[in-house]
Amino acid sequence: MYMEKGVYPYFREIDSHQDTEVMMDGKKVLMFGSNSYMGLTYDQRIINAAIEATRKYGTGCAGSRLLNGTLDIHVQLEKELAEFIGKDEALCFSTGFTVNEGVIPQLVGRGDYIICDDRDHASIVDGRRLTFATQLKYKHNDMEALEKELQKCEPDAIKLIVVDSVFSMEGDLANLPEIIRLKKKYNATVYVDEAHGVGVFGRNGRGVCDHFGLTDEVDIIMGTFSKSLASIGGFVAADKDIINWLRHNARSYIFQASSTPAATAAAIEALHILKTEPERQERLWDITNYALKRFRECGFEIGDTESPIIPLYVRDTDKTFLVTKMAFDEGVFINPVIPPACAPQDTLVRFALMATHTKEQIDYAIDKLLKCFKELEIIK
Ligand SMILES: Cc1ncc(COP(=O)(O)O)c(C=O)c1O
Repeated sequence: MYMEKGVYPYFREIDSHQDTEVMMDGKKVLMFGSNSYMGLTYDQRIINAAIEATRKYGTGCAGSRLLNGTLDIHVQLEKELAEFIGKDEALCFSTGFTVNEGVIPQLVGRGDYIICDDRDHASIVDGRRLTFATQLKYKHNDMEALEKELQKCEPDAIKLIVVDSVFSMEGDLANLPEIIRLKKKYNATVYVDEAHGVGVFGRNGRGVCDHFGLTDEVDIIMGTFSKSLASIGGFVAADKDIINWLRHNARSYIFQASSTPAATAAAIEALHILKTEPERQERLWDITNYALKRFRECGFEIGDTESPIIPLYVRDTDKTFLVTKMAFDEGVFINPVIPPACAPQDTLVRFALMATHTKEQIDYAIDKLLKCFKELEIIK
């Protein structure tokens, strides 16, 4: 139906390099849909690192980490990530998705409990579905609801709470201080997905756990390379015993080919840039605060976001597709978010910032979006 109406918004092809401006079908478009928060996907140093690694090691690893697929740069990246995140050890996987899918089922079993926020990412949902534990959910960021679920659990059983640190569509943060208080009260274990936290929050982009000073209290931290780290892949970081268990049991680690030399070297270089160029993170926050203020002043409904992910609520699926198309025609790329990525009454378009966006680009996009939102009477 949306295809017939000409507003189908998916699989739009980019045929240029990727930065704040991309080329699509011969047309220049401002990119506000990317998760490249640090704006590093076209950084020449990272490109060179990927090329050099390809020259040295080849294009693939043709095996899993357990067998023939471990390169010295995989181990180097794991060591650097463990140190960066602040845990004993880390393991790298070929995607962030398969971290959640492979790790979560290895942490709980029959007789245990897994407790998730109802807005957790799809990869957490899939990981949860693969466990034999009792599966519990609580209303998004509702700490009373979380406590009620914890009260339902057998006191001596393992209780694993799994949350996104930054919710990927809404841009708000998990209430980690309160989650940690409940963890201690009910003797639970906490797993935090920092996919959208790394790069953006914490010292030099160490993430939301670091931002709250709670890295030691959070038991397991995962992240991905596909956002701030300008590559593809993912990691989990925790204490030695947990990592050793996962190294020998996580199925997507053992039975999945390891990440390419290029992707691995790119993530290493991006991590070095994060550590040595804090001005990128500062710049991201400067333009994020600017955009948040401007969206609010213009009358957009932007929810509880506290990050460079800015949801512009539409609350109507047809209008969400329509406004995505109208913005695109005006040269502004944004992502539509409809169920199951959100509740039916919460449809939105997701506007995301990169450290490399200029205020002029943001102003242009906001003006065009305001025009489209008014035309569709989303903003009166
Ligand atoms: C919160 C969250 N976790 C995990 C993932 C999966 O990561 P990747 O796409 O890098 O495999 C994503 C990706 O969108 C995500 O947003």
